[in-house]
Amino acid sequence: MLKPLVVANWKMNPATSREAKKLFEVTKKAAAKARTITLVVAPPALYLRELAKGRAGGRVSFCVQSAEASAGGAHTGEISMRQAKDAGASYALVGHSEVRARGMSNTDAGRQVAAALAANMRPILCVGEAKRSPSGAHFAFVAEQLKAGFEQVPASKLSDIIVAYEPVWAIGGEETMSPREMHEMAIFIRKTIVETHGPKGISTRVIYGGSVNEDNADEMLRDGDVSGILVGHVSVDVARFTALLSTLSNI
Ligand code: 13P
Repeated sequence: MLKPLVVANWKMNPATSREAKKLFEVTKKAAAKARTITLVVAPPALYLRELAKGRAGGRVSFCVQSAEASAGGAHTGEISMRQAKDAGASYALVGHSEVRARGMSNTDAGRQVAAALAANMRPILCVGEAKRSPSGAHFAFVAEQLKAGFEQVPASKLSDIIVAYEPVWAIGGEETMSPREMHEMAIFIRKTIVETHGPKGISTRVIYGGSVNEDNADEMLRDGDVSGILVGHVSVDVARFTALLSTLSNI
């Protein structure tokens, strides 16, 4: 069985490289005790190279929070997948809702997934609706995000991609959606990929993000039909993240 994946999305934190190094040291120690999980840290891109230095073959992997599909050129302020890989990232978040909110389209997400694969990185495609509707329109919304995100993905690469279901309404608080609802969505996500890409679609990993903390992570992993979690604000709080990892040591 695959070890559960824990992705620590530090977002735009911490404020200095010095603090980032400190946070990483403590995170690394906590991860060394949590041998039953695979830890991926997504720091601001500026800190990637420094943190990844000397970590080749180590237990913690790195992820870029956002990178462009283009290989280079006139894209002021952006970085490419290749540059992120060169700086030490082996995973790439694609289409996080906070990036989509700044204008990224489903088509852009599809291009970035393909570019991450071409750079030998594992894309973590983030999908999720802003709000739920009694008519179930959120399922169609997520299906559109998945279809565009997987458009350029050959069946042979399906097991290299991770889908992170992050309902926007559940981000930034203290309460996740219920594991039962997550279970339903995980089935829907796999069904959608199987419909577009055939039976190998079942091999794509599904993880959950949105207010995961030290009290609810374990339950989500056990009952939510997911093989990982994407943690935001709790991942930059040393005490809380250490507690979260230790609750997973029996999984
Ligand atoms: P929170 O864990 O702060 O809700 O953030 C979730 C998220 O956006 C992770 O990518």
